[in-house]
Amino acid sequence: MSNESTTSVLHTTIDHRRSSAPGQEWWRSAVIYQIYPRSFADASGDGIGDLAGITERLPALRELGVDAVWLSPFFRSPQRDAGYDVSDYCDVDPIFGTLSDFDALRDRAHGLGLRVIVDLVPNHCSSDHPWFQEALAAGPGSPERDRFMFREGRGEHGELPPNNWQSIFGGNAWTRVVEADGTPGQWYLHIFDSSQPDFNWKNPWVWEQFRQILRFWLDRGVDGFRVDVAHGLMKKEGLPDIAEPEVGESLAEGMMKPDEVPYWAQPEVHDVYRDWHRVLAEYEGDRVLCAEAWVEPLAKAALWVRSDEMHQAFNFSYLGTPWEAPRLRAVIDESIAAFESVGAPSTWVLSNHDVVRHTSRYGLSTYGAAPASGIGPRTEDKPDDVLGLRRGRAASSLMLALPGSAYLYQGEELGLPEVIELDDHVREDPTFHRTNGEVYGRDGCRVPIPWETAAPAFGFSGSGESWLPQPATFARFARDVQRGDPASTLELYRAALSLRAQHELGSGAVEWLPGYGDDVVALRNRSVIVIANLGAEPVALPEGALLLASNPLEGGMVPTDTTVWIAAD
Ligand code: GLC
Repeated sequence: MSNESTTSVLHTTIDHRRSSAPGQEWWRSAVIYQIYPRSFADASGDGIGDLAGITERLPALRELGVDAVWLSPFFRSPQRDAGYDVSDYCDVDPIFGTLSDFDALRDRAHGLGLRVIVDLVPNHCSSDHPWFQEALAAGPGSPERDRFMFREGRGEHGELPPNNWQSIFGGNAWTRVVEADGTPGQWYLHIFDSSQPDFNWKNPWVWEQFRQILRFWLDRGVDGFRVDVAHGLMKKEGLPDIAEPEVGESLAEGMMKPDEVPYWAQPEVHDVYRDWHRVLAEYEGDRVLCAEAWVEPLAKAALWVRSDEMHQAFNFSYLGTPWEAPRLRAVIDESIAAFESVGAPSTWVLSNHDVVRHTSRYGLSTYGAAPASGIGPRTEDKPDDVLGLRRGRAASSLMLALPGSAYLYQGEELGLPEVIELDDHVREDPTFHRTNGEVYGRDGCRVPIPWETAAPAFGFSGSGESWLPQPATFARFARDVQRGDPASTLELYRAALSLRAQHELGSGAVEWLPGYGDDVVALRNRSVIVIANLGAEPVALPEGALLLASNPLEGGMVPTDTTVWIAAD
């Protein structure tokens, strides 16, 4: 199939029994590549990516130069929220393959020197999960119901929801059930879709189930977990109303709310991660927990990575920072200080499966601090693709020069833009449907990625099928046309990752360089000087050999929206 599968790559086998000295663990400086399984590579030909497809394509990631992959959920699921609605935590959904396909993937990844992180979804399961079905059948007051958040409704006959919370995907956060005798009964809480009932994390039974799930995957050789909605597990006692429920916001907006929201960032949530830390510590090989905790400010997000809790937390403040030099300098300083204060590395991230791709965000004239709520045909402010790609390349080149761990989202190494022209009827994100199309949501960043320009479905699937339609413009982003072209985004990422490893930037430190204007981010990390010029005026190149330029120099100067790396010594 791909050219990449025949490429000779360096084979390094990971020895999982070895742990590094504290402070030297692999994840402190790793570049971790997010695979969104349904959109990466489809070996079965049904138009949905699968584990076998991923395994075949792994050499391309080794060639890219990342250290690990994080797989979004591939567990059994009715797929109402693309697998974030799990109906069996310890099995693979048939659309993605089998447990032996997972084992083959893990072995291939480890053989290539790539670690494997899987997604854990502990805030909620699928309403199809036997645990929830048992809770429905068992009725009010039963131990089975106590595994979830069932409550009586308000109003004379319980006809009103127990409080005013709204789902992050739009609409009410409560759904009323019909009891066994056919009468309307209790309500259950779902912070997300009605098919995603929230667990009751005050119940020790839930704790025990998740310990077992962790052990199942740790025994199967995974290197860690990305923990979904890690700020949401505990709800405030009494489930009080919130002041102003928001309607029609994006996932990112809904996930990053102020402190007082009674379903986010409750102090008891940290006990859960202390418990999990102890479970991981029973295993050799520096297994890692990474928090998806949309918490601001960064000093608060750092609470998730205290030395007895998780190891990493996504830096969503960085992701949400506009392309403005003073704001970038400030967020870099704030990130390093916040995470350092608890002995954790900072992480960096620009894109994932929940936000508009950064090459498109940076091309929007109204791009502010918050990621947009999806872009579609009816959106007025459409991105300028040329500007967005130019800035996106400069932003990635800056991010990959920073010390700590960086997360990449599949396709960003190709410079893929958000897909805007998706018809309403092909959109699958529950956000789109629950807001009656008011929020476009996340389908535009989830379109299957292009591998070969001339192949059916651009090499995503041999059958030419693709669960979301790929635009014709993907032809020019295909990996095979970029490979070997020094001006391509793929080769820019490869060069940046190779230089990052060679100069050990992941374990370095930021030293700000004086003498540059306000519109320039100028820093030194170990032996590399990094200049990101966000201003209109070109900036003179410092002394030293040019290692990397996100865009061609102009007249020997660093032009606008360009990042360069220079060898300092
Ligand atoms: C996280 C996931 C997102 C999912 C939500 C509910 O934010 O990243 O994709 O929809 O949690 O599980």
